[in-house]
Amino acid sequence: MLGKYTHRGTCRICGSKNVIKFLELGQTPLANRFLCKEDLTEDEPYYPLDVYYCTECGLVQLLDVVPSEEIFNEDYAYFTGASEPMRGHFSGIADDAQQHLPITEDTLVVDIGCNDGTLLEYFSRTGAGLLGVDPAVNTLQVAAQKGITTIPEFFDENCALKLRDEFGKADIITATNVLAHNPDLNGFVKGISLFMAEKGMLIVEVPYIKNMIQNVEFDSCYHEHYSYFAVRPLTYLFSKYGMGIADIREVPVHGGTLRIFVRRGKEESEVVNKMLTRERELGLDVIGTYIDFGKKVKLLKEKLNTILKELKDKNKKITGYGATAKGNTLLNYCKISTDILDFITDTTPFKQGKYTPGMHIPIFSEEKFHEEPPDCALLLAWNYVNEILEKEREYRERGGKFILPIPEPRVV
Ligand code: TMP
Ligand code: ZN
Repeated sequence: MLGKYTHRGTCRICGSKNVIKFLELGQTPLANRFLCKEDLTEDEPYYPLDVYYCTECGLVQLLDVVPSEEIFNEDYAYFTGASEPMRGHFSGIADDAQQHLPITEDTLVVDIGCNDGTLLEYFSRTGAGLLGVDPAVNTLQVAAQKGITTIPEFFDENCALKLRDEFGKADIITATNVLAHNPDLNGFVKGISLFMAEKGMLIVEVPYIKNMIQNVEFDSCYHEHYSYFAVRPLTYLFSKYGMGIADIREVPVHGGTLRIFVRRGKEESEVVNKMLTRERELGLDVIGTYIDFGKKVKLLKEKLNTILKELKDKNKKITGYGATAKGNTLLNYCKISTDILDFITDTTPFKQGKYTPGMHIPIFSEEKFHEEPPDCALLLAWNYVNEILEKEREYRERGGKFILPIPEPRVV
């Protein structure tokens, strides 16, 4: 069944009508909408998953907008603290923040999209006031149990004014992997400009489109990711609200992420200019680059399906490794179902016993992977490739294989 969504005809940063479609991933269900056994007989909502490039400001985006209430509700399955590598990453953000701005007991740190409070926990060492904002109440409850003041809301201009009245201005605002999840970028950044202290700092993390293009990470595209960022459209977005990027660095999570430090004032730093130059050199500001990417994605699908078919023809047992949201884009786009994958294993208790959206592949705990090892495992959590290959050394030494889907499908 086709779910409810709206189509917008203009870029969500600059409002231009010059938005060009370069990737069609078909109609897919929401990538984090895992199903219980009882749900399997029900009609799942599907939504078009097409990706566009704005030739004015350079923002890559979805224009078929599934309302955020549909996506980030009580069934939302993503728990930040669930994966070990992410915990190390979050501790790094807190350290980085300390270096840019001294944190004392008088500092108010606000995490927007705080999820289960993993990031704020690392700030608790500093004695700062901690405030977590997130519309997904199931994860927010976990944050509240950690002693964090929680606000169950989607951050926008109104929310910003309310928070400012109640708690005063924020010294440090963090928003990791949140901007992509907000269909109203202008409302979000305007809200920040109202809520942030004069000498305050916003730390934003977004997956970097450079890596997505270079590594053919097409499966990072799903409905909850409305936008895919390069530095150029971001500098424009912040400048509209009197802010600029003071510092920026690349960090190796989610397949390649930008950590951006934003302050009031429009001055762009040297490091930003360098990155803008590099983006031009890589062609990230021309539509042809994105059209080529779309072609690569089609080839990837063909190649992956060929590999899987060959293995199945040899009666090999194949399972999926990591029931990730991006995995669901990949499985639905490539139409990989239970005729190919016996099951998927995942460390997140919330996902175990459930089924993947669309393809309905059962999810089990990691033990099952070791109890009933396959001949080959499709790595759906490819962002942790090194950790997982290391962790499953024994499986590999006994002849077990992994299929890495990107940048080009291959068996290792
Ligand atoms: P993420 O990419 O959104 O952090 O999700 C990673 C998913 O992969 C999460 O559901 C946990 C799962 N996972 C495993 O099952 N085994 C692992 O070793 C790792 C690192 C992750
Ligand atoms: Zn634009």
